[in-house]
Amino acid sequence: MMKTLVMSQQLRGGVCGPAFLGSAQGGNQVVVKFAHVKPDPIDFLLQEAYIYQHQLECLQGSVVPRHYGVFSGDRRVVLVTAYARKSLDSFEGLDVETKKTILDHIITLHRNGVRHGDVGPDNITMGSDGHPRVIDFSHASAHICPGVDKCQEIIATARMLGISDALSSYHEAPRLKTQ
Ligand SMILES: Nc1ncnc2c1ncn2[C@@H]1O[C@H](COP(=O)(O)OP(=O)(O)OP(=O)(O)O)[C@@H](O)[C@H]1O
Ligand SMILES: [Mg+2]
Repeated sequence: MMKTLVMSQQLRGGVCGPAFLGSAQGGNQVVVKFAHVKPDPIDFLLQEAYIYQHQLECLQGSVVPRHYGVFSGDRRVVLVTAYARKSLDSFEGLDVETKKTILDHIITLHRNGVRHGDVGPDNITMGSDGHPRVIDFSHASAHICPGVDKCQEIIATARMLGISDALSSYHEAPRLKTQ
């Protein structure tokens, strides 16, 4: 159980508030994302936590980093996740296998009912195991995916990665037949 946390370095920060790199007791590196006490940023953080805890629980530690929870105190609310190493500056220069893994991850999110809402290099990290992780679910929404060949976010991601051809290799899960 995490009791004290020392924050060291400020990472890139967005509309919610800053994010800091920290060390928890035991030496695990974590990211602490702050929301200032105004209604909207807290809603964003709580929504992000809900997605990690419920819809993406089974993907923590593989597709997304581990999520430790949301904590409040000193008029602040923070979301804590495992540090998944530095986010990418660009998709250019990545090998094709890594690009395909990133696309796989986005498709896996969709199959778990989540549209990311802000896919880009700054929200993809390269984990310590050499595999990518998707971070930042503050723009995410519940999603019933129409399929890889029809879904805007999946098509746009494949295009951004320069691997649109790869979409044809995905087979949809068999649909239940209705009479
Ligand atoms: N778990 C993590 N592992 C590694 N880096 C992280 C992690 N979470 C956040 N970061 C770093 O902090 C930056 C900011 O965090 P994040 O992307 O979650 O929020 P944001 O883009 O600043 O804000 P918003 O929620 O408005 O999109 C990321 O671009 C990334 O560099
Ligand atoms: Mg971000």
